[in-house]
Amino acid sequence: MNHINPTDLIEHLQWRYATKKFDATKTIAPAIWTALEDTLVLTPSSYGLQPWKFLVITNKQLREQLQPLSWNQAQVTDCSHFVVFTIKKNLTADHIDRFIARTAKVRGITEESIAGFRKIMVDNVVYGSLSLTVNEWAARQVYISLGNFMTSAAMLGVDTCPMEGLEPANYDKLLGLSEKGFATVVACAAGYRSEEDKYETLAKVRFPKAEVLENL
Ligand SMILES: Cc1cc2nc3c(=O)[nH]c(=O)nc-3n(C[C@H](O)[C@H](O)[C@H](O)COP(=O)(O)O)c2cc1C
Repeated sequence: MNHINPTDLIEHLQWRYATKKFDATKTIAPAIWTALEDTLVLTPSSYGLQPWKFLVITNKQLREQLQPLSWNQAQVTDCSHFVVFTIKKNLTADHIDRFIARTAKVRGITEESIAGFRKIMVDNVVYGSLSLTVNEWAARQVYISLGNFMTSAAMLGVDTCPMEGLEPANYDKLLGLSEKGFATVVACAAGYRSEEDKYETLAKVRFPKAEVLENL
C-alpha cells in the first residue's frame, strides 16, 4: 500500500476549514461519495459496537425544512450531501447480540466462542457503570466518525462543515428518529467551497503546539 507522506497529510489538513459557503451548483461524484460513506462505516468505536446511524440527506425539500432548525445556516441547503450523525439510544443487550452474531458471521467463528466478550460488554454497557451515561458514551463514538469523515473528505478534496449549531430535538421530530430509538448528535455538510467564501483565506487559529502537547 502506498501511504501518504507527512507533508501531503499536513497540507490536506491545512486546506480543510469549516466551510461556511458551499457552491450549490457542485455535487460530489458518486465514486467519491461512496468512499466517504465507507469512511463512516469503517469508523472505529469502543468494543466495536457502532452505536450509531448516519443519515445522508440529499432531498432538497427535507434540507429546506432542516435549515431553520440549524440556526438558519446555509450550508444545510447549499452543500452537496448533508449527513446527520445519530446515536442509537439506550443500547440494549439486543444490539450487543446483533454485533456478536455479525462478528461470528464475518470471522467464521461460533457465537459461543465469544460469549465471554459478549458478557463483558453487556455487564459494562447495559448494566454496569457505562450504562448510566450510555447515550453520552455513544455520542463520543459518533464524534470519532465525524472526525474520520472530515479528514477523509479533505484527503479527497471535499469540503465539509461540522455543525453542532442545530436543534437536536427538532431534528429528531422531523426525521422521525425518536420512535426508531435514535437521537441526533451533530451534522456535517459536505461539498465544494464557493469562491465567495471569505473564510477560506482566514489563517487557522490554534494554540501553539507547546501549549496543547507535552512530550513526557
Ligand atoms: C463539533 C463541531 C461543531 C461545529 N459547529 C459549527 C456550526 O454549527 N457552524 C459552523 O459554521 N461551524 C461549526 N463548527 C466549525 C468550527 O467553528 C471550526 O471547526 C473551528 O473554528 C476551527 O476552524 P477550522 O475548522 O476552519 O480549522 C463546528 C466544529 C465542530 C468540530
